[in-house]
Amino acid sequence: MDQIKNKQSKNIKFNLKDGQSPDREPIKRMLSQMEGMYLDNVTLNKMLSLGDRVVYEFYDLGMPENSEELAYGTTILYPGKVGDEYFMTKGHFHAKINTAEIYYCIKGKGYLLMENIEGDTELQEMTPGVSVYVPPAFAHRSINISKDEPLISFFAFRADAGHDYKTIESKGFRKLVIEQNGHPTIINNPKWKST
Ligand SMILES: [Fe+2]
Repeated sequence: MDQIKNKQSKNIKFNLKDGQSPDREPIKRMLSQMEGMYLDNVTLNKMLSLGDRVVYEFYDLGMPENSEELAYGTTILYPGKVGDEYFMTKGHFHAKINTAEIYYCIKGKGYLLMENIEGDTELQEMTPGVSVYVPPAFAHRSINISKDEPLISFFAFRADAGHDYKTIESKGFRKLVIEQNGHPTIINNPKWKST
């Protein structure tokens, strides 16, 4: 099937202070949509009983999903914790698993956690001005370790890569970043499932 391609350049603004685009609507991920993703489900349910909130938002510009195009936008991950675990994105593999991605941190402080099916883990610090290359076949998740600032990143990947959220939703990441004695610490995920 012939896919529509962009034939014109684009100029889309993303605000450096809050990551928002003035003329687009971001997709919002609520805390209620993160059930099962955090280690401490009891605390998550307590938080939800007090009210829902946005954990992160990101832009999908609806680029044509073919291998010649790039999908791009910003992710805005708000500060917070569920128990000792920092607010994070769900994380995903790409549906076309052998596709890479680039992140560029605009604001905030956090990490990009990556792992592949074989169990290799990569953890990169995200601070303003840092770019992180996510290699092909690595699931990736942003983690915000700041107490008060959003973690804002710009991303770009092959537009036909697609998203596989289900693998992480069912298995989790092998590693988690939690706060221990006031410091971010990487631990083995006791809830990780091998199958
Ligand atoms: Fe991705």
